[in-house]
Amino acid sequence: MREKDLIQKAKKARLKAYAPYSNLKVGAALLTKRGKIYTGANVENSTFGLTICAERLAVFKAVNKGDKNFAMIAVVTDKDPPITPCGACRQVLSEFSKDLKILCANLQGKVKKYSLKELLPKAFKKTLSD
Ligand code: THU
Repeated sequence: MREKDLIQKAKKARLKAYAPYSNLKVGAALLTKRGKIYTGANVENSTFGLTICAERLAVFKAVNKGDKNFAMIAVVTDKDPPITPCGACRQVLSEFSKDLKILCANLQGKVKKYSLKELLPKAFKKTLSD
């Protein structure tokens, strides 16, 4: 799977965003190490706090199907510069991937590449013995 194709999937997923409050539509496409893709888009709520981000929806869909090994995620909006995943999403991604590649793209064709380590250098990790 090429980076360009994953971004294309996130772009398509973005069309399913429900964002009447912020008007920020976000699409995500999460690639597993075995080559499967799970997509997500943000779903807002009138309480605001119950909103789910595109990235977390994609992760939860994957985990619910038994897939937990991720290689790369693409996130697409119409914002320039492209947005990076929020703190909550970074923490959720870090639960499953240490070496995740993050592609932050926009509809205008700009792409910024990061590693999860770079965006969340000291992630919380509860040891299993706690
Ligand atoms: N949002 C995402 O879907 N992903 C992010 O990483 C940042 C924020 C959504 C949540 C909300 O629906 C809208 O963008 C504005 O914050």
